[in-house]
Amino acid sequence: MNSPSDTQLAADPQHASEGAIQRVLVLEMVRVTEKAAIAAAQLVGRGDEKAADAAAVAAMRKAFDNLYMDGTVVIGEGERDEAPMLFIGEKVGMGKGPKIDIALDPLEGTTITAKAGPNALAVLAAAEEGCLLNAPDTYMDKIAVGPGYPEGIIDLARSATENVCAVANAKGVKPSDINVCVLDRPRHAELIAELRGIGCGVVLIGDGDVAGVIAVTDPDTTIDMYMGQGGAPEGVLAAAALRCVGGQFNGRLVFRNDDERARARKWGIEDLNRIYKLEDLAKGDCIFAATGVTDGSLLAGVKRRRKPTGETILTTESVVMRASSGTVRWIRGEHRIA
Ligand code: FBP
Repeated sequence: MNSPSDTQLAADPQHASEGAIQRVLVLEMVRVTEKAAIAAAQLVGRGDEKAADAAAVAAMRKAFDNLYMDGTVVIGEGERDEAPMLFIGEKVGMGKGPKIDIALDPLEGTTITAKAGPNALAVLAAAEEGCLLNAPDTYMDKIAVGPGYPEGIIDLARSATENVCAVANAKGVKPSDINVCVLDRPRHAELIAELRGIGCGVVLIGDGDVAGVIAVTDPDTTIDMYMGQGGAPEGVLAAAALRCVGGQFNGRLVFRNDDERARARKWGIEDLNRIYKLEDLAKGDCIFAATGVTDGSLLAGVKRRRKPTGETILTTESVVMRASSGTVRWIRGEHRIA
């Protein structure tokens, strides 16, 4: 389907009354993550992180071309000199229409994909210009909890034990009934020991903390909280998702050297110790879209299937959410192989 012309959109009262995040964009974003996921899926289990990432990046870049928007990548594959495509500042979309900022990770879980592990996703968030934190590519300390708790129940300034006890109290259970998802990294040894010391179940994930954070919003995962350090860009993406489905999140940038501090200042970040909440990371109306590359807690991965007609298709599973309406759509796509 061709994108509507400027005149068609302007004549449509629905669009005229909407802000920059127009309804039509919601489903268009899924097309973009679907394309990236399908491209990456061809390389699942092939042991080549870079090739899988490059395939997803190229497919996502191309899919943006047809979108009626004046998009700018604010979180992408790196700075212009590091990334051939989808670098920070790159313009995407048709270059006309609403001004949209995009945070993206065409392949969240490059190692997962190379090893055919769980929870690899193609993911993006879109918001009105200026509404997503331009997070530098550093680490971020993160803590998240699902919806339904009093505001401020979690606080990165407090210890892991204090946070678990607060959530357990609010839930009316013991700290030992709380499950916490943590990235399995040596840097988390103390955190894991502290959590296990108070009896928590620690759900260790090898990679993919966007899915790890979102898991706190789904009771079926039995994960109550997310804690630990992961990528700052992934923190903004996860925050956009939580803005749509509810939940609370705190993030604080972690700098390993002066170069990282300088990068943060370059993106306008002055208080390097600031604790960011959801609205500080993704404010206003925003969209979060993801398509599974490999099977995971959030989405099924791309599958090749043979239909009863004998035709071979690829199936995708995606989710797309919008903050202003709180609508969450689960989309199963069937794609003919060209
Ligand atoms: P990639 O897709 O870039 O490999 O990121 C995967 C990931 O696990 C993220 O989900 C997470 O935020 C980050 O890496 C953690 O970084 P590190 O592997 O350096 O601990």
